[in-house]
Amino acid sequence: MTETKKDLLYEGKAKKVYATTKPDQLIQEFKDSLTAFNAQKKGSFKGKGTVNLKITTCIFNYLAKMGVNSHYLKTIDDQNILVEKLNMIPLEVVVRNFAAGSMSTRLGITEGTLLSKPIVEFYLKKDELGDPLITDDHVVMLKVATVAEIDHLKSCALKINIALKKMFSDIGIDLIDFKIEFGKNKKGEIVLADEISPDSCRLWDKATGEKLDKDRFRRDLGKVEESYHLVCDKILKVWGKH
Ligand code: ADP
Ligand code: TMP
Ligand code: ASP
Repeated sequence: MTETKKDLLYEGKAKKVYATTKPDQLIQEFKDSLTAFNAQKKGSFKGKGTVNLKITTCIFNYLAKMGVNSHYLKTIDDQNILVEKLNMIPLEVVVRNFAAGSMSTRLGITEGTLLSKPIVEFYLKKDELGDPLITDDHVVMLKVATVAEIDHLKSCALKINIALKKMFSDIGIDLIDFKIEFGKNKKGEIVLADEISPDSCRLWDKATGEKLDKDRFRRDLGKVEESYHLVCDKILKVWGKH
């Protein structure tokens, strides 16, 4: 690889982050590990990192064409990508098209209920607090983002939702919900970061309703590896050449 890994800056649950020779670029290594419930449940399968890398880069390439800039610069190999180094905004931005997961539990809405319009939620990215759901006023009070930045994050998240819904719909998959993260580059611009993969989305087969995402691991549904590969094969086949 032409880009050289320097210091390991951070090891997370799904990726390692390395410095490079350039101060504003990082290498993200996608790991084969799989965790849930704030890493209380652990697993892995060989090739998982590669599958998530391929799905993420395919999506980031398409989003770039739709006018959404991400941190992605180039693929180095099957497990490593070069990205723009960002000052991360400590929020998990969740967009929901159908009720599922924590929203269904919190509000008592049956999983799979179509929402009248997509909704955006903010979770504070803080493992020791279990990433709590927070309001816009909390975000401002904590100085995590300004009111104008909140508006920008929401409109960007909804734009990404429109693009992702199309990508998945065209391969026979309903996008139930997803989580994204943003950071600021050295120019102060807000840029989409991290990854978009079956780890961070709920993806249901349109025809059968079968879950094709990390819920298979979270809920011990089996066929975790097969489902990730299925999503990867389908998305690359249709969108890989766009
Ligand atoms: P976690 O921290 O939740 O365990 P990961 O294992 O995916 O998650 O680790 C990747 C880390 O890198 C995350 O903390 C994420 O916020 C951070 N990150 C993602 N993209 C960038 C970027 N472009 N610049 C700096 N940090 C990033
Ligand atoms: P939730 O229903 O558990 O709140 O999850 C909403 C979406 O966010 C779902 O697609 C899974 C994703 N997600 C993550 O990517 N990371 C997380 O830590 C959590 C809790 C959810
Ligand atoms: N992202 C969290 C973890 O990896 C929680 C989850 O996705 O369920 O532990």
